[in-house]
Order: sequence, then C-alpha cells, then structure tokens
Amino acid sequence: MKTVKVVVSGLATAKGHEELLVILVSRGRDGKVQAHPFYADLLGAVAGFAEFSGKKEQCLALYPPFPAGELSCRRLLLVGLGEIDQSITGEDLAERLRLAGGAIAGHCKKQHIERLALSLQSPEAIADDQAKLGEYLVEGLLLGAYQFSKYKTKKNQEEYGGLKRVELLGSGNLAATRRAVARGAHCAASVCVARDMANEPGNHWTPTHFAKYAKKSADKLGMQCRVLDKKEMEKLGMGGILAVSQGSKEPPKLVIVDYNPGKGHDTVLLVGKGLTFDSGGVSLKPAEKMMDMKYDMCGGAAVLAAMAVIAVEKPKVRVVAIIPSSDNMAGGGALKPGDVIRHYGGLTSEIENTDAEGRLLLGDAIAYGIEKYQPACVIDLATLTGSVVIALGHHYSGLMSNSDRLVDMLIGSGARSGEPLWRLPLGEMYVKQLDSRVADMKNTGGRYGGAITAAEYLHHFVGETPWAHVDIAGTAWDFTEKSYIPKGPSGIGVRTLVELIRRWPDDPFSG
Ligand code: BES
Ligand code: MN
Ligand code: ZN
Repeated sequence: MKTVKVVVSGLATAKGHEELLVILVSRGRDGKVQAHPFYADLLGAVAGFAEFSGKKEQCLALYPPFPAGELSCRRLLLVGLGEIDQSITGEDLAERLRLAGGAIAGHCKKQHIERLALSLQSPEAIADDQAKLGEYLVEGLLLGAYQFSKYKTKKNQEEYGGLKRVELLGSGNLAATRRAVARGAHCAASVCVARDMANEPGNHWTPTHFAKYAKKSADKLGMQCRVLDKKEMEKLGMGGILAVSQGSKEPPKLVIVDYNPGKGHDTVLLVGKGLTFDSGGVSLKPAEKMMDMKYDMCGGAAVLAAMAVIAVEKPKVRVVAIIPSSDNMAGGGALKPGDVIRHYGGLTSEIENTDAEGRLLLGDAIAYGIEKYQPACVIDLATLTGSVVIALGHHYSGLMSNSDRLVDMLIGSGARSGEPLWRLPLGEMYVKQLDSRVADMKNTGGRYGGAITAAEYLHHFVGETPWAHVDIAGTAWDFTEKSYIPKGPSGIGVRTLVELIRRWPDDPFSG
C-alpha cells in the first residue's frame, strides 16, 4: 500500500495551492444546510440547490468563480454529515466523520484527485473538538482511499495513482490535532495492511508469509516474535493444527507476537484464524465462491495489524497475538471424516466434517496461549462459520463469550469503531450437539445454531479465563455498505481491538 502524506496546518498559512478544498456541511432540524460561519456566503449560494441538502455522504463539487472570493483553490467539495445537533453522541459523530471521509475518498477516486485540503472549520454543533474531527475524518479518508493493484501490470493499471497528500486546515491547538490525526492515520494504515494481506492470493500468502511478515513487523516495532514450525508443534502435541495442515504441501506455522511493556500489567491474548486457503479438505466445498476462501485468514491478519498499532501506541497492558496458520487441502495425506485427533492439552475430537477446520487450529492455539501466558482474557477472531452469515448477514459480527464484562468492553469498542457486534448465546444444550460416541467431542454440531456450536467447541479450551469469540465470517468481506469500506476485504476487527486496548481499565474484571 502506498502511503498518503497527511499534514495539519493553520488555516491562515495554507491557502489556494491544492487541487481541491473540502468543506464540511451538516443539515439542521429545519432541513437547512449548515456550515462554519466562515463559509456563509458559499452556503447562501447553494442554499436552494435540490441536489445538495447536507445528507450523510452527499457530495457537491463546485468550480470557480466562487461566491467567497478568498477561497482561491481550484475546486471545492461540500460534503454532507447528515442531521447533527448538540445531542449527537461521540460514537455517532465518529461514524459520520468516517463516512464523510470515505465519501471524499470516493469523490477523489472518481475525479482522479491526488492532493486535497480539508477545512476543520465545521458546523457549530461539532466545532469544539478539531482533534477528534481530524482523527475520524482522516481515518475514513484513508480507509476509503484504499486500492489494491499489485497484480495489475503497468499497462492495465488505472491512470489514477491514488491519494497522495491531505492537508487539514485547523485553528486553535494544532499540536493536539496533529497527535490525533497521526493516530487516525496510523490506525487506518494498519487496517489497510490487513486488507493487503487478505487481498494477496492463496499462492502468494501462505503460513510462511504470515511468519515472515510477523517477524519483520515485530523487529521493526520492538516486539518479540516466535514462530513454531511443524516439528515444534509435533513435540508440543498440537494435533489440531497438524491435522488441518496434513492434506497440504504448505507447512503450517504458529505465529506469536508479543508486545510487553514490562512486569506488573495484565496480559490480553488475541488469537486470529489464519487459514490461508480453505478448500474444505476431503469434505470439499462447492466450487461456487470457493475463491473467497483465500480470505479465511482475515482474523489472523486483523490481530497482526492491530499489534502494529499497539506497538506504536505503547499501552500499559501486555498484548500477545497468536496466529495458527495453515491451508486446508485435500491432498493424499489429508484428514478424513471419522478420524480422531488429540489437541494440545489432551482433549480428543472426532472429525465429522473436515471443513470445520478453524476450530481445530484455534483449539490448540487458545489452550497453548492460556497455559503459556496466563492472560486476563482471551479474544479470538475468526471467519469461523457460514452459519453466522445466515444469522446476522453482513452487518454485525457475531460475539460469543463467557464474560458479560468482556462483552460490554467489546461491544463498546466495536460501536465506537463502526464495527458493530451482536452477542449470541452459549449453553449446555448447544454443547450436547457436539457429543461423540468415540472421542471427547465431535467437530460439528449439526445444521442448527452452527455459529454457537462452533463457539462451544472453542469453549472447551478456555477453562475459567474470560474469553470472547468473534465470528467475522459475515463482515471480513462483503461488508460494503459504508463509504470507507471498499469492495473486497474490510480489515474488520483491527480498529475494535485497538480501541479495546486503548480503553483497557486497571481492574477490568472486578464487580
Ligand atoms: N471458513 C469457513 C467459514 C466460512 C464460510 C466463512 C463462508 C465465510 C464464508 C469455515 O471453515 C467452514 O467451512 N465452516 C463450515 C462449518 C461446518 C462444516 C460445520 C460452515 O460454516 O459451513
Ligand atoms: Mn472450512
Ligand atoms: Zn475455514
């Protein structure tokens, strides 16, 4: 991904040298468009235009001569934030700003605009916090500007080289705005890295690539990285990961990245499913949409990308990410229905369907991570079931957990990030669906409640540790109704995890 240069300047010092100047506009209760008083003349000029009412994500491009003579840019863009008054919540405002940022990015893509200035002089109801404004606008802008064209040869590449420079025009405490904007930009860039990993095809993004990338990133950012290869996993008895990988020529890897701020802090364990291609194995998937199964590593990509933000922000909490990574193929040595495997820690499992492979790898990784790091909580992210897509569609990720407190923290962080989560139940009734005649459990629980029985499978590896499982099968791609999430992989989960760590309380599981 190419980087976009983002700068913050004082309003007075930067004028008239950008291709496009963007102005934020909201809509009052009375239906009238509103902007900062600075742009009153301009608003007067467009007040009667039926095509622009300040609605969410609406854009209106204007060309000179402009009514307000001092605006000496080449073109103007008014962008709508929707109806806003003083009572707007922080979450709602953050999302409106990201949507506006995405809309601006969409406009720039269409018009091939590479450099723009964006005025932080905003409508009155939101004018008091330019730092927040800048942070979320830039986040949306950079997320919306994302493109993946690595495999297009020069000839076929679009002429438009993408966004190159964004200048935010602020006033007041510019230092605070700069810090916030840098935070937003860095977070968005990390989400784009997660999207890049997912966009890489299965033949260019294997478990080995995960391992190499993690090592490089950890080295650069001062984190520890350890990669367990097949031999080490054999020694440790990680029968789940080994079973999934045995039908593929690609060697499996267990990738561990450790951000450690020193003694005396909680540890949060993140586990991400890193299936670099899921054919279903011997229980082969139908051809239709099998191509999408190169995205079955989006959970792993998200936790790895989140670590890159965490390493820079340096919170007072230790965060360990584990990515069990493998292909799921149907080669001659592949796992078969009816086989029994033994997980790390000893639990046995009867394989009913080799396509329920994610839980096999995650079981080992969770059990190992808890034993080794004794975390205050575990959060796993996985494109685990088609069933969660049936339940929630492409608009909410499924959340299943043994801890109400962790659920509250995740739902709050997801809401602030525009990555909504919906809790589904757990319970003994679902556990029974996994009963096996020959082993401790089966790896499938029948057709009904599939997202929940998958979670209950993982629950066996958790013990008493507060744990949350986030099933992102519906949101990791095709989660496209937002202007700042283009088609293809969404990078979901990165921002929720970063937000959760930013908010990490001193005593998270008390009361
Ligand atoms: N990676 C898939 C889940 C998936 C399916 C994600 C479609 C996104 C879109 C997972 O490994 C899988 O195949 N799950 C099976 C489980 C079943 C065999 C119990 C499923 O959901 O069909
Ligand atoms: Mn599968
Ligand atoms: Zn899978």
